[in-house]
Amino acid sequence: MNFYIMTLFPEMIMQGLNTSILGRAIERGNISVNAVNIRDYTTDKHGKVDDYTYGGGAGMLMQAQPVYDAYLAVQKMIGERTRVIYVTPQGKTFSQEMAKELAGEDNLVFLCGHYEGIDERVLEEIVTDYVSIGDYVLTGGELPAMVMIDAIARLVPGVLHNDESAATESFHNDLLEYPQYSRPEVWRDKRVPEILLSGNHAKVDEWRLEQSIERTKRLRPDLYEKWEKRQIK
Ligand code: ADE
Repeated sequence: MNFYIMTLFPEMIMQGLNTSILGRAIERGNISVNAVNIRDYTTDKHGKVDDYTYGGGAGMLMQAQPVYDAYLAVQKMIGERTRVIYVTPQGKTFSQEMAKELAGEDNLVFLCGHYEGIDERVLEEIVTDYVSIGDYVLTGGELPAMVMIDAIARLVPGVLHNDESAATESFHNDLLEYPQYSRPEVWRDKRVPEILLSGNHAKVDEWRLEQSIERTKRLRPDLYEKWEKRQIK
């Protein structure tokens, strides 16, 4: 899967995503991350990409021209029309479900805004999805884009070595993940639950499911309700 990120801060994206699991996935060719500098496409001879807002108001707005020309260049690189995700607090809230759906695409374009936003006309022209990572305002779209790309990329086949871990983790089936333990068996007088040392896999699975249910009910009653409804169906 190929990610294209239209941004004024390409180095932020590359530094953020080119490490650890995603760095290795890029090296292996499971995914590619291509940061496209919007400033490279401005026709302004001083490299300007922003201007004052019509009607007044604080702050500067990213202009339509450089964003649109960067978009045309990206479409040319990809060779076909692709979904363009504008990361904005005004969008639909990102979720694991959305990550799963987007992981099915071959190519995805992310548009990161800065300053007070982007000229509405170019958004109307190119954006297919408006997505937020939560009800708070950040200084730019780069961090939200990286959050989404991380969540999507780890669902792309081959990115995680252990395919099982994507299937058993939190939010899968609307339940949170069960507690986990590693060596030593006793740490600060706390013992690892006996059942996990029993070697009885059926019992271990049963215990883990119980723990997931209990934890979800206690910490995320909203998710628990969703899960419970699905059990009755
Ligand atoms: N840009 C600024 N804040 C944001 C948020 N919460 N989600 C997505 N994009 C943003």
